[in-house]
Amino acid sequence: MTAKILDGKVVSKEWKKEIEKKVSELKENGVTPFLNVFLVGHNPASEIYVRNKKRSAEKLGMKCEVIHYENISPEKLKEEIKKKACDKNVHGIIVQLPLPEHIDPEEIASCIPFKKDVDGFSPYNLGKLVRGEPYFIPATPYGILKIFDHYGIDLRGKHVVIVGRSTIVGKPMALSLLLKGKDATVTVCHSKTKDLEKITKEAEILIVAAGKKRLITENYVCKGQVVIDVGIHREEDRWVGDVDFESVKEIVEYITPVPGGVGPMTVAGLLANTCKAAEMSLKNG
Ligand code: GUN
Repeated sequence: MTAKILDGKVVSKEWKKEIEKKVSELKENGVTPFLNVFLVGHNPASEIYVRNKKRSAEKLGMKCEVIHYENISPEKLKEEIKKKACDKNVHGIIVQLPLPEHIDPEEIASCIPFKKDVDGFSPYNLGKLVRGEPYFIPATPYGILKIFDHYGIDLRGKHVVIVGRSTIVGKPMALSLLLKGKDATVTVCHSKTKDLEKITKEAEILIVAAGKKRLITENYVCKGQVVIDVGIHREEDRWVGDVDFESVKEIVEYITPVPGGVGPMTVAGLLANTCKAAEMSLKNG
């Protein structure tokens, strides 16, 4: 039997309706949620992602400014971020990753105040997530949790295997699944993991964020599994994921497509976080 599709386009559309409603309420109270996106250099994929974020934000009635530098020193970038951090009208600030080699993403994330760090990558916000009291859940894990919610996929006690240990997805995903109320049992695998095929087969839910095209083939999965593919790669005239969709969909129970799976949910997660930041600024000044 072919797997059921976990449709990120459908779920994100529903989520965006909720966000749009919140934006309207905030506007009635004189606040328009405003996201600032810093982009450095010329990474074609990043440019597409940033364009999507801006377009989606504006479609929901939010404001979004993209600040693009061909090149910039880390010191100057930090200075520019700090200026935006002091601007009362700006609610969310993100720095699109990857950054050029000469800029340390950790150092940059540290200069975004936690209440405006809508990516949730600053040391403070990651620490809050580690403690089980997140202020912002990073957008991709947040979006994936929404997919589980929408399709009634219960996480309690389930064995979730994550392939990938990045700060953007793998690690915050693991921490999000360990939150009280989610209560999953989590295994994190990475490029040095031995017997990856054996471990992925033991998963009830498999989340793949390895950044390797078609890493997960039919040999890595088994019947009844839920498979979430975070990867996205350009191949000739189409997009493919970290999962070999065509062979894996014949085995597992649920699967996210690429495109149209996790991608739209990540954008919605970021906008939801920006809305929360605006809401909190209205409440607390
Ligand atoms: N690059 C890939 N995903 C992300 C993300 O969620 N946030 C940022 N800032 N950069 C990214």
